[in-house]
Amino acid sequence: MAAPIFFCLQLLCFAFTVIRTRAQPPGTWELLVQNAGIASMHTAVTRWNTVVLIDRTDIGASNLSLPNGVCRIDPNDLALTTDCYAHSALLDLETNTIRPLMILTDTWCSSGQFLPDGTLLHSGGWNDGNTKFRTFTPCINTSSCDWEELPNTTSLHQGDGDNEGDNMYPYVHLLPQGNLFIFANNQSVLYDYVNNTVVLDFPQLEGGSRSYPSAGSSAMLALEGNYSTATIIICGGAQYDAFNNQSVNSTAKGSCGRIVATDPNPIWEMEEMPLVRIMGDMVMLPTGDVLIINGAQAGSQGYGLATNQCLTPVLYQPDQLEGSPFVTLNPGSIPRLYHSTANLLPDGRVLLSGSNTHYYYTFDGDFPTELRIEAFSPEYLAADNTNLRPVVTKTPKTVQYGNLYNVYVTVSSPISQACEVEVNFASAPFATHSFSQGQRLVKLGVTRVVSQVNGEYRIVFQAPPNGMVAPPGYYMMFVVNQGVPSVARWVQLTS
Ligand SMILES: *[C@@H]1O[C@H](CO)[C@@H](O)[C@H](O)[C@H]1NC(C)=O
Ligand SMILES: *[C@@H]1O[C@H](CO)[C@@H](O)[C@H](O)[C@H]1NC(C)=O
Ligand SMILES: *[C@@H]1O[C@H](CO)[C@@H](O)[C@H](O)[C@H]1NC(C)=O
Ligand SMILES: *[C@@H]1O[C@H](CO)[C@@H](O)[C@H](O)[C@H]1NC(C)=O
Ligand SMILES: *[C@@H]1O[C@H](CO)[C@@H](O)[C@H](O)[C@H]1NC(C)=O
Ligand SMILES: *[C@@H]1O[C@H](CO)[C@@H](O)[C@H](O)[C@H]1NC(C)=O
Ligand SMILES: *[C@@H]1O[C@H](CO)[C@@H](O)[C@H](O)[C@H]1NC(C)=O
Ligand SMILES: *[C@@H]1O[C@H](CO)[C@@H](O)[C@H](O)[C@H]1NC(C)=O
Repeated sequence: MAAPIFFCLQLLCFAFTVIRTRAQPPGTWELLVQNAGIASMHTAVTRWNTVVLIDRTDIGASNLSLPNGVCRIDPNDLALTTDCYAHSALLDLETNTIRPLMILTDTWCSSGQFLPDGTLLHSGGWNDGNTKFRTFTPCINTSSCDWEELPNTTSLHQGDGDNEGDNMYPYVHLLPQGNLFIFANNQSVLYDYVNNTVVLDFPQLEGGSRSYPSAGSSAMLALEGNYSTATIIICGGAQYDAFNNQSVNSTAKGSCGRIVATDPNPIWEMEEMPLVRIMGDMVMLPTGDVLIINGAQAGSQGYGLATNQCLTPVLYQPDQLEGSPFVTLNPGSIPRLYHSTANLLPDGRVLLSGSNTHYYYTFDGDFPTELRIEAFSPEYLAADNTNLRPVVTKTPKTVQYGNLYNVYVTVSSPISQACEVEVNFASAPFATHSFSQGQRLVKLGVTRVVSQVNGEYRIVFQAPPNGMVAPPGYYMMFVVNQGVPSVARWVQLTS
């Protein structure tokens, strides 16, 4: 008997996300690490299922010592010229253990990105770190790798803006046609980085400035189909002047702008979140929904400038724009305000780290320095979705642009149509200051699903067409069945 083959019938492929009625709002929380020793203000997940945590050096004692009595002697350090504390660390997701890393120069307000070979390139900072690039090459055996500092480069300048400086940490998204969408304050442009020209000025986004120190957050929605369109959302932020006035009680914004950045005549559509939020984080989930988490409901970014923590995450469902795209989720209990982060993990959970609204590590008063690391499990990880969860049994380790590949899965509940199944590539972004640099989710073309004799399914998918849709590098490859993702496998995308 020939193995059944399921092709995707577009007309039958409506929203498959499983929505259940529950007594509790969706989602669960767990404490992963009681004391990480540092408060991570920059966080990135590596292809070996470790997480790089980075604070800043000019902050005095952390709660994590450098190993073997090592100290960093830095005459330029503004807090401790002989500093025996770690300001970066590696979390091993298998054991939830922390290993101190040695970073040499100040990383305060730096940026980062994974290179095509999986090396984390980390740029800039403050004080002696301002001109620095550093690399971290993740290792499979987590005891060996550490930071390497590259020689000085030209200075990387801090942002500069109106009298509140609402232009820092701009939101940058690489569009699938190859230009950059760059947003700062309430303005955005389409920038051709090849020819160094501004191709288009987008309309201004209403409702005030949206960048540091008034940041909401931003994400590019999942790229899919023939990758001809890209939609960007920007949600929340501070009232103008909340930073200048040090108005810690000034209510944050609840509005969201959504724009199809690839449209020749783009306009902002406005939506209202169920909660106001300053310095939230946006995490692209493997399904294409966006988790909005962390932050506060009043004040601005900056040390000690926010109050009224926003403990309740919200889900943005881009395929539910008819009613409200927002679902209010189960609240957590740990405030994550200034200098906190959120990152998607390969098992579909979301890692929450950091929060330090103080110049040094401060454990008394309001919003003490937060050393606990948590994970939030979205609804798709609930026990009653287990029968839908694909288990990946075999996958390529490397894929090349445009080629067809097989991924094999098992799943308890039978797959009846190919379109119930998605194969999605999620990047591992560098999360800091309410924005995940380099975050993208690419939904791949699934051409067919073949039921195998041994109970497996063979899913045929097409790798992304080019480096504008998905830059080369390591991605978390999720197989998503009716809104329930597998545990991801790391796959290297190459040309
Ligand atoms: C961090 O270190 C300080 C100073 O050594 C200590 O007082 C404090 O209890 C520690 N906090 C935690 C959460 O470990
Ligand atoms: C690198 O730049 C920093 C800051 O400008 C300076 O203090 C330091 O001496 C430079 N280091 C080298 C090796 O040039
Ligand atoms: C990693 O280290 C362990 C022992 O610490 C060793 O058994 C294992 O073979 C190493 N794995 C690799 C891939 O090097
Ligand atoms: C840059 O300009 C060249 C020559 O004008 C043009 O052919 C090319 O398409 C431009 N590149 C991009 C990315 O638009
Ligand atoms: C954008 O900001 C500028 C400067 O604050 C302001 O004049 C302008 O009205 C704003 N645009 C919109 C659409 O709100
Ligand atoms: C891409 O898909 C869109 C929407 O399905 C369609 O309108 C457009 O013509 C397609 N573009 C190309 C180049 O195939
Ligand atoms: C900041 O102060 C000015 C002048 O006192 C006031 O008009 C404005 O409402 C204040 N802004 C906020 C966000 O509190
Ligand atoms: C902010 O609100 C809290 C609670 O209502 C109040 O105790 C505090 O004094 C307010 N702070 C300022 C600066 O107005």
